[in-house]
Amino acid sequence: MMTSSLLQDKTALITGASRGLGLYIAKRFWELGSSLILVARNKHKLELCYEELSASTKSQQSIQLISSNLGENHAISQLTQQISHKKIDILVNNAAIQGPIGNSWENNWSEWEQTLQVDLFAPIALCRAVIPGMIQRQYGKIINLSGGGATNARPKFSAYAVSKAGLVRFSETLAEEVNPFNISVNCIAPGAMNTDMLREIVAAGKDKVGEREYTQVTKKIADENSGMQQATELCAFLASPQSDGITGKLIHAVWDPWKNLAEYVEELKASDIYTLRRIVPQDRGKNWDPLL
Ligand SMILES: NC(=O)c1ccc[n+]([C@@H]2O[C@H](COP(=O)([O-])OP(=O)(O)OC[C@H]3O[C@@H](n4cnc5c(N)ncnc54)[C@H](OP(=O)(O)O)[C@@H]3O)[C@@H](O)[C@H]2O)c1
Repeated sequence: MMTSSLLQDKTALITGASRGLGLYIAKRFWELGSSLILVARNKHKLELCYEELSASTKSQQSIQLISSNLGENHAISQLTQQISHKKIDILVNNAAIQGPIGNSWENNWSEWEQTLQVDLFAPIALCRAVIPGMIQRQYGKIINLSGGGATNARPKFSAYAVSKAGLVRFSETLAEEVNPFNISVNCIAPGAMNTDMLREIVAAGKDKVGEREYTQVTKKIADENSGMQQATELCAFLASPQSDGITGKLIHAVWDPWKNLAEYVEELKASDIYTLRRIVPQDRGKNWDPLL
């Protein structure tokens, strides 16, 4: 049960808050009492969000808007400098782009690099910027958005898949590094959601994205449950003290029983459940080693 003061006195930086999931998360965090630093390129959309939210301000809540292009090195440096002295308790690395669609060797190389920049390097840079302050305050919650291709091959979406796999591995690694400082780092697999990102795949067409991906995505678009609510609620859970002790995990908003995870904190700490690991024959019930 989330009370309306769950994130009171906290400040959350959310990237990609101008539309899609990021906008949902911003609105939910606001309801839960958090102050917000919202980042995206589209200043007008950020301002619309500001107008809507500031109509229902609770005492002490504030919103800062930062229009920044996470695809540009100098913008990332400017942003990281701008936030490095702020009290940021929660970081949600949500902004991402789909990147080039098609076979890896045929993708436009600068689009490939741009995808790594927005989806992987920018989130890492933001983590690096907020962690010293979190260490000082001995508190922090970092939430990184994963996506299709992080845990399996995703033909025709190599730049996106590589970025998301990299972000999950970075999150697991960082989680161990910052564990002594009461900072947790987790990833969310939100499931397919009806946003611009999903619509881009449909617009690209079956020939470009491949039959399997196209069929899956068109089914999701037609599915009323492909909303953003579950991912938003999971994000709020991971941002709140309700998730204390859970770190270094990749949690699926739709398929994992995250509402009950607080009961399993000790088992989660002691296991590799919800992590990226190599599968060996024994995991599939096969014994290929005569010495075993
Ligand atoms: N939709 C899905 O089915 C799905 C599935 C799995 C994972 N995800 C992940 O969930 C997260 C949210 O996805 P979504 O579907 O909500 O995406 P979306 O609707 O396409 O929104 C992307 C957000 O990122 C921002 N953004 C994009 N490029 C940026 C840049 N260069 N600099 C700064 N901000 C930038 C956009 O704002 P501006 O355009 O204003 O900059 C927008 O607010 C992403 O990490 C995505 O990979 C989505």
